[in-house]
Amino acid sequence: MKKLRFLILILFVVSCTSNQKKQTNQLNIKQAVEAKKGMVATAHPLASKVGTQILEQGGNAFDAAVGVQFALAVVYPRAGNIAGGGFAVYRKANGESGTLDFREKAPLAATYDMYLDEDQNVIPKLSSFGVLSTGVPGSVDGMIELHKKLGSLPFEELIQPAIDLAENGFVLTENEAKKLNDYQKDFLKANDSSTYFFNGGKWQTGEKIILPELAQTLKLIQDQGREGFYEGKTAKSMLAEVNANNGIITQADFDAYQSVWRKPVEGKYKEYNVISMPPPSSGGIALLQLLKGSEAYDLAAFGHNSAKSIHIMTELERRVYADRATYLGDSDFFDVPMDMLLDDDYLENRFSDIQMDKKTDSKDIKSGEVEIIESIETTHFSIVDKDQNAIGITTTLNGNFGSKVFVEKAGFFLNNEMDDFSAKPGVPNQFGLVGAEANAIAPEKRMLSSMTPTILEKDGKLFMVVGSPGGATIITAVYQTILNVVEFDMNMQEAVNATKTHSQWMPDIILYEKNGLDSLVLNQLQGMGHKMESRSAIGKMDAVLVLPDGTLQGGADSRGDDTAVGVN
Ligand code: GLY
Repeated sequence: MKKLRFLILILFVVSCTSNQKKQTNQLNIKQAVEAKKGMVATAHPLASKVGTQILEQGGNAFDAAVGVQFALAVVYPRAGNIAGGGFAVYRKANGESGTLDFREKAPLAATYDMYLDEDQNVIPKLSSFGVLSTGVPGSVDGMIELHKKLGSLPFEELIQPAIDLAENGFVLTENEAKKLNDYQKDFLKANDSSTYFFNGGKWQTGEKIILPELAQTLKLIQDQGREGFYEGKTAKSMLAEVNANNGIITQADFDAYQSVWRKPVEGKYKEYNVISMPPPSSGGIALLQLLKGSEAYDLAAFGHNSAKSIHIMTELERRVYADRATYLGDSDFFDVPMDMLLDDDYLENRFSDIQMDKKTDSKDIKSGEVEIIESIETTHFSIVDKDQNAIGITTTLNGNFGSKVFVEKAGFFLNNEMDDFSAKPGVPNQFGLVGAEANAIAPEKRMLSSMTPTILEKDGKLFMVVGSPGGATIITAVYQTILNVVEFDMNMQEAVNATKTHSQWMPDIILYEKNGLDSLVLNQLQGMGHKMESRSAIGKMDAVLVLPDGTLQGGADSRGDDTAVGVN
């Protein structure tokens, strides 16, 4: 064991020092997976297996996505979900692309100031903990709509693997056992001590989890479609939790929920066509602003994670996040100036005050002081099939295990997505993100997201499917992963693994992954005036790259149990 640790340490040191391009702060470095007939990259090995089994049975990428979404709801309950929401970006083999918005909505009874006290101050945690933080879930409607439009196998077959996992059980990975143990106090606070996931913190690696109530709920969805979730026993069980804890969701909210097909945000970065998520996600617009802004710099010549390239990325990021805070929200409710934000002249002007050797203070871009809090979860998966149909889905309960409220009778957690609204303009949410009127709360409005499922085309062909969890850091992690392939010549796995940095305008700092940057780079950045702060991880990517000969290359993040599985 000692020998093995020593060998890993040597490999780590060698990989950090001999090739800065491929720098990573991870010890369990994964290798790229390649296959010809399909690739599924998800946050959990069992979900990836479900996806590849569906592909092997003749399903397309969209069938596999439905199967994976439900499987993650079982084996990855901190972010996989049926009572959350998300976004899908797809590209069919014939080149047609689109997006599906199955983001949660504010309940009909939601109000502008529902998280404020009588002095108009934000009541801590009210928007992020307990049933009042729960938005009307969208995932089940989303999967049914996705299947209706793009699926090829019967829906019943796609949900069956998730039922089997819930009914027959699955074993906890080390990471998931630890996560469950970390959240015991919250589970107890939001539920009573008989709740399934509360056991006093004794969850162990390899322990089997069986979720009969969730299996039952999934069977209801299998038999009845959306009614199996939004009506009958499942709806009643959710509403019982809501009503017992002064929540505001009603049956009318469930009846009214509908996911929406939206036109993607699309734009050019060099010779690549970028297809991404429009509002209510900020991801697509922000990503394109960053990529377009990057075109003015020779990042490849600056070098991967050199002080110069991190400085430029940071300066772009702080301006883009300032725009996000001001202009972005649900475009069904607020006139988001999308064309202006992506206009070449606007962007040239927006980035024109960037200096090569000196940081701009965020307060000079726009004022405000906020704090970033860690512990954020969401999950992303990327799937490509033998015909090169492709889909990226980012889906979430928002925080780990969402609101922490577990619907015991139906076997799942409720989301805490309401925290993604701006509870009060200028006051930060759990990700330290501030917002303005554009993202204020209103009945049936969708809260602004950072989720950035993205597809890149090159020469009219599929090139990459990419996305990440990580709240505010999603956009920067996706941006840097794309740069890692396009500018820094990494393969998909190296690009995913590489150390990421993050800056979001406020607070006025650069976050970087602990031990991921060398001390010279840190000193140079500090010399330009940047304040550096380390954190454990930025992003957790699952991506697929199409190589010039058509081979699919999967990259599954070494920061977690993420696994890419190919079909040959
Ligand atoms: N809940 C995280 C996001 O949507 O950005």
